[in-house]
Amino acid sequence: MIKFKMFTRLGQVVPLCIFLLLGCGQQTTKKEMEEPISILEHVTKQYDSLYAKALPFLETDKPMPKSITDGKLRLVGIYEWTSGFYPSSLWYLYGMTEDEKWKERAITYTEKLDTIQYWEGNHDLGFMIGCSYGNGLKYMDSKPYEAVIVRAAQSLATRFKPKAGILQSWERNDRWECPVIVDNMMNLELLFNATKISGDSTYYDIAVTHADTTMKNHFREDNSSIHVLDYDTETGEVLHRNTAQGYSDGSAWARGQSWGLYGYTVMYRETMDPKYLDHAQKIAKFIKDHPNLPKDKVPYWDYDVPIEADTKRDASAAAIVASALYELSTFVSTEDAIEYRGVADQILETLSSGTYLAEIGSNEGLLLKHSVGSIPHNSEIDVPLNYADYYFLEALMRKERR
Ligand code: GLY
Repeated sequence: MIKFKMFTRLGQVVPLCIFLLLGCGQQTTKKEMEEPISILEHVTKQYDSLYAKALPFLETDKPMPKSITDGKLRLVGIYEWTSGFYPSSLWYLYGMTEDEKWKERAITYTEKLDTIQYWEGNHDLGFMIGCSYGNGLKYMDSKPYEAVIVRAAQSLATRFKPKAGILQSWERNDRWECPVIVDNMMNLELLFNATKISGDSTYYDIAVTHADTTMKNHFREDNSSIHVLDYDTETGEVLHRNTAQGYSDGSAWARGQSWGLYGYTVMYRETMDPKYLDHAQKIAKFIKDHPNLPKDKVPYWDYDVPIEADTKRDASAAAIVASALYELSTFVSTEDAIEYRGVADQILETLSSGTYLAEIGSNEGLLLKHSVGSIPHNSEIDVPLNYADYYFLEALMRKERR
């Protein structure tokens, strides 16, 4: 059992005890075979190896490790939507260990994203800047980092369409006028933080408006969400209801359900408006009670995909749910909290098993195996993904924070 402390932004010390021990088959040395190592030791050793593999690419146009392609580490440029996840995982490793080396690494990779604060090309600034600079602010005071958050929120706010009450996700294209995806709920935390830093309520108001419009239009009777909605920006009319990454327009794409759960949990944390708590709990119910959710709680890539022997699971969708449920459990009745934590614990147990957690030195240094980027695009199928690692680390931290 390893005990460690995490410092919050306000300087409070929150005790953390990571005590999940890995089962057989995870170890790489004889000593470790004899003495199972803690999950903390495992993830730090693995990310030491990822750091060593990624560092030679730091000054290239693709510095951020994301996945594996053709058996090799795949790195991406700073304008790719996942560019913030590696820096933010480094911040979490600093939070878990208090080892300054992780802080130095986190700062180096966070500041590679400096120009993203001016990016208006899509909605992903919450992931890119909110996770990197935003997590940096949990561990150190920094006026320059605060300025980046506010500037990035300004860029994101340029995508707000007031008559429709939404933030546009992707650019207009052959298929859609103004596409908005449920994933966009994940960008709202950046806006809340920008209001806290700047005192300008514009960002807060945009976040609330977007969340309300999304709650009204994106969700079905059974509380599953549609992936892509196309809006008329003048009238607010929904022109099309489609999917991009799910099985069909009428299906429940697994990661989309996870983004919704996480997003409305954040909405409740930031506003304390009970309608968001109610909505997050409805999404949680859809996920945890779904008949197609396997016993080990790692979903198939879509809740409605026909299940066959080789149907792929999505570890990223599971990790996001685990992290969200730990937070949601802090806002609900004891009975619900026990249930949510139980599901999240089961997810972490599965993801910490040899099936999902890579052996140290394997998987090109990434933590989790078996995620899915987009099956309809034949892209990133059954691979590690940096955001699966990030939400897994966040869930491990939240598990121990009560
Ligand atoms: N936000 C993009 C995805 O979840 O694949």
